[in-house]
Amino acid sequence: MEINLTKKIYAHISAIGGYVPENKRTNHDLELITDTSDEWIVKRTGIKERRILEEGLATSDMAVNAIKNLIETYNKDINDVDAIIVATSTPDMLMPSTANIICGKLGIENVWAFDINAACSGFLYALDMGASLVETNRYKNVLVVGADKISAYVNINDRSTNILFGDGAGVVWLEPTKEIGVIDALLLSNGTGKEFLNIEGGGSLYPPSQDSLEKEKTYIKQDGKVVFKNAINAMSHTCLDVLDKNNLSVSDINWLVPHQANKRIIDAVGKEINIEENKTLINIEHYGNTIAATIPLCIWENSSKLKKGDLLMLTAFGAGFSWGASLLRWTI
Ligand code: ACO
Repeated sequence: MEINLTKKIYAHISAIGGYVPENKRTNHDLELITDTSDEWIVKRTGIKERRILEEGLATSDMAVNAIKNLIETYNKDINDVDAIIVATSTPDMLMPSTANIICGKLGIENVWAFDINAACSGFLYALDMGASLVETNRYKNVLVVGADKISAYVNINDRSTNILFGDGAGVVWLEPTKEIGVIDALLLSNGTGKEFLNIEGGGSLYPPSQDSLEKEKTYIKQDGKVVFKNAINAMSHTCLDVLDKNNLSVSDINWLVPHQANKRIIDAVGKEINIEENKTLINIEHYGNTIAATIPLCIWENSSKLKKGDLLMLTAFGAGFSWGASLLRWTI
């Protein structure tokens, strides 16, 4: 058999879906629990409410709902899927993977399915991995999910975290194309941020135990100020670097889709890279930080604004630290 080594295959997004739980946790709800106020939270974070998944349901349930939403909206056949990659820091269980559990819930077999944990940068890591699979020509239909039930790890009495986080899931369907879809990505990690943002308990270092429960190691903890400064710096530089690498400039970008962690971080990144304000997509007000789900959820919610051929720059920052920026042409 003759192998054609010259034919380049690109991956593109052919469909998108999302899901957020019904149950809302508003700033006023939090006023009743901790010493905080709606005014402070809105001013310092831009968040008004977040969605909280009910007990007894898990990350895979939200992912399945997001996938069903995609399938219904775009009339796709789940049996065409070759691979599922789930970006999550809050898997249903340590094993099997959440991607594997999703296969069971959707009733599909013969699918390569696995999870990626790159915290808030997870979706961008998974997108690049999924695009790379498609580019090999061995996988034609790849689902890339970003989903987190972070509420399971939030101490409701800790006002430094309970105001920020919410649950959700987003998904894109990647397929081959001869025209360019996913263009490039710059994804980085440095391992210097472990002490500033983490969930220590439940892993092999601090396995589940009475001691880790008593020491509250199963809750998300952070030094908000350190994370804040590093997030702005890392996202701004990486956005400019990925543009430079592709001989593009900020004026070529139609839409900036930043990780939704704090409205002040989003605004500062926009200012640093000097992008027009109305080009930044934001939905943090209603969902807060949904970890790996923020970027696909934000694109999904705003997809009616996007035109075929638009250039999107996605950027994220999260625990580790891990961060990055991706470039793609919108092709739906
Ligand atoms: N309600 C009311 N007052 C508060 C609250 C609250 N929830 N939290 C802190 N305060 C008070 C403080 O006690 C302090 O009071 P003081 O001036 O009398 O000492 C004052 O408000 C300012 O506190 P800061 O900690 O300086 O508040 P800051 O402006 O840094 O905002 C926040 C805190 C929102 C956590 C911010 O640092 C942040 O968003 N950091 C980024 C964290 C993040 O997004 N992490 C998520 C994962 S990584 C990522 O996704 C990017």
